[in-house]
Amino acid sequence: MSHKIGVIGGDGIGPEVIAEALKVVRATGVEIETVDYDLGGARYLRDGTILPDSVLEEWRGLDALLLGAVGTPEVPPGVIERGLLLRMRFELDLYVNQRPFLDPAKGIDMVVIRENTEGPYVGEGGVLRKGTPHEVATQGSVNTRMGVERCVRYAFDLAERRSRKHLTLVHKTNVLTYAGDLWQRIFDEVAAEHPEVGTAYNHVDAACIHLVQDPQRYDVIVTDNLFGDILTDLGGAVAGGIGLAASGNLNPERTGPSMFEPVHGSAPDIAGLAKANPTAAILSAAMMLEFLGEADAAARIRKACADPSTQTGTTSEIGDAIAARV
Ligand code: IPM
Ligand code: MN
Repeated sequence: MSHKIGVIGGDGIGPEVIAEALKVVRATGVEIETVDYDLGGARYLRDGTILPDSVLEEWRGLDALLLGAVGTPEVPPGVIERGLLLRMRFELDLYVNQRPFLDPAKGIDMVVIRENTEGPYVGEGGVLRKGTPHEVATQGSVNTRMGVERCVRYAFDLAERRSRKHLTLVHKTNVLTYAGDLWQRIFDEVAAEHPEVGTAYNHVDAACIHLVQDPQRYDVIVTDNLFGDILTDLGGAVAGGIGLAASGNLNPERTGPSMFEPVHGSAPDIAGLAKANPTAAILSAAMMLEFLGEADAAARIRKACADPSTQTGTTSEIGDAIAARV
């Protein structure tokens, strides 16, 4: 059976790394049928299009989406991020952002489960008296029982399937007392249903120290949208570099396609120079295959990426080396 994949190369290095990811997927022998979508900052600058409703509807019929990176310096911050990437996450209900970090040489094997549809990302708030000395800006964090609980449940189920069976809640319960209390109570409730999973709690600032000094302590982390955004850039930096960090924006109920993308951005400074490491995009494609039931092909890709001999050269040389080993 062939999997129907929507492909959004996007901006900067996005299309370069996605070309390598598709090359590697095809080399595994897994059958895919791709549909390309020209979206991102460049498209917006050309004709003002961000994400047409008709495209969103088309996506609902696909098996998965693979995205490179979106955003260009010429477009004001937020336009493409909110209008395309976050809209995708919200409209397709991609409520789990799963970001694994693996660095066997350092003994790091950790997964961050980042809540992906709520928190400070929802766009709650506004501005008053703009441009005056009395200007006010507010930006709230939205945390619903349903939204927090489904994410925490996913994290416990994942931790239970892993060998260490450990889950750490990361938040800032000492300051964000309303949101933090909701997260903590739900975490404790779900923990009671999973007696075999060991648990811990870290404040987000302390978690940053641990991630730098002792990342091996973590198995699975569950956290809110903004903390997860920040922690996963740090995770990437600590475990092999951001060129290796992959992610899956998941709709675990499979009521629509999930979306897979490298954690890194469009890196306009190195776009077109064949310098970008496509491994993060390739590992994101491996997550996609695993989610689509192609666990064997996914494992072969991961093994090839872990072979140091595949990790030097230009973007396409790295892609070729990985493709040759799957
Ligand atoms: C990420 C990115 C996005 C985020 C940006 C581009 C909106 O940093 O996927 O981590 O903040 O979620
Ligand atoms: Mn980020």
